[in-house]
Amino acid sequence: MNTKKRLSWLLIMLAPLVTVAQQTTQYPTDYLSPEFHAGRRTAFKEKLAANGVGIFFASQTRVRNNDVDFQYAQNKNFYYLTGLEESDALLLLFKQPVTILNKTGTEFIFVKKRDPQRELWTGKILGAEGVRDRYKMDNVFTNDQFTANTIDFSSIDSVYSSYRNEGIFSKYKRVEDPLSRMANIVDSIINTQKKPIATRSTQMILSSLRGIKQPEEIALITKAAEISCEGHSDVMRAIKPGMIEYQAQAIMEYHFKKNGAEYPGYPSINGAAENSCVLHYETNQRLMNDGDMLLSDCAAEYHGYSADVTRTVPTNGKFTEAQKIIYEIVLKAQDAGIAACIPGAPFNAADIAARKVVNEGLIQLGIAANDADARKYFPHSTSHHLGLDVHDMGPRTLLPGVVLTVEPGIYIPPGSNCDKKWWSIGVRIEDDILITETGSKNLSAGAPRTVAAIEKMAKEKSIFKK
Ligand code: GLY
Ligand code: MN
Ligand code: MN
Repeated sequence: MNTKKRLSWLLIMLAPLVTVAQQTTQYPTDYLSPEFHAGRRTAFKEKLAANGVGIFFASQTRVRNNDVDFQYAQNKNFYYLTGLEESDALLLLFKQPVTILNKTGTEFIFVKKRDPQRELWTGKILGAEGVRDRYKMDNVFTNDQFTANTIDFSSIDSVYSSYRNEGIFSKYKRVEDPLSRMANIVDSIINTQKKPIATRSTQMILSSLRGIKQPEEIALITKAAEISCEGHSDVMRAIKPGMIEYQAQAIMEYHFKKNGAEYPGYPSINGAAENSCVLHYETNQRLMNDGDMLLSDCAAEYHGYSADVTRTVPTNGKFTEAQKIIYEIVLKAQDAGIAACIPGAPFNAADIAARKVVNEGLIQLGIAANDADARKYFPHSTSHHLGLDVHDMGPRTLLPGVVLTVEPGIYIPPGSNCDKKWWSIGVRIEDDILITETGSKNLSAGAPRTVAAIEKMAKEKSIFKK
């Protein structure tokens, strides 16, 4: 081995040590705090009617195939109120104090019991003690302690729940799991009360809470958006004809993982040419040719919070004239949509502003005959709330603390009733907008959006391009 080679080997060997030295703790420390979740429970309880109770279940595990489960994903309402990421748990939040299993309070949680045999395979279960310590909750029990006699609903006038409508309970479980057992008990308690109990959805209350992001949540969404922008920027640098859609996806998701984002916020959408016209195309298997554009709708989920970012880029680094004309309309529509995001405006202000630009553009080019015709080419709405869920819940007014997407698009599939030169052009540009006291802030501004900026970035060197 010559000296140069020896030196590079030494550097390679030392690299992990450098990383370890830079890291002060063994695990990330920027999760939401127990105090955050406690504050959200308090805010929820404040909105309950007198003698009301809110009932929340953790998500079930789901069978993927045979004895393999899908990767676990907690129900986001449950996560918002607890921070717990385990299945088989039940949370009860009462307006007035009640006594359950000799404990008096307004908050009770029943969690998975520790099980050394299971923990050998899939890692530590917190158990009641672990949940009490980590999440600073007082009244923690294990789910086997929950029976038909555990709670007395005689003082309860209204029950708030949504668990039967949230896709939590799988019909396809082979055995009755602890979660279904507890839910069946809760159902039967509610249904056998002598006096009438009002049953209400939790969604109205949670929408008003989850829709206005707290500073800690904004920090996590911002981080998710910044990581996503790093991925989009590098795809712009690396993309070239001859790559396959999933290779663009791989570059994108490398940056998510590299930066500590646990998952993509939703299945990555990478559609070239005619696939760019499929709104939620997830197959990502097509070869990308010279002259194609790639519509890449990909974003990271960081500590539970998702970004949602779309960029549409030419595979060879330069837009064709036709592509540029459509792209510029969508960009102008997005600018108009973002400009309409001002505090106090109705939620659909961005949609109205963006759609007007798209409609005018398509009619002027002779692609659409009128507004109704134009809707065929822009068939989705411009915005949704963004947060724990990529399609999050929130108010119908743009209040400070709302985070929403602005994502107009034009999609012209082959065979459309217009000049063939427009066929297979699909463009969406999507950014994540925080409403502030005075206006708005684009959290995903880090990824280039204009034709000039994208073409410039395409000339830069990707970490994947030697
Ligand atoms: N990525 C899904 C959406 O834009 O709504
Ligand atoms: Mn999207
Ligand atoms: Mn979106």
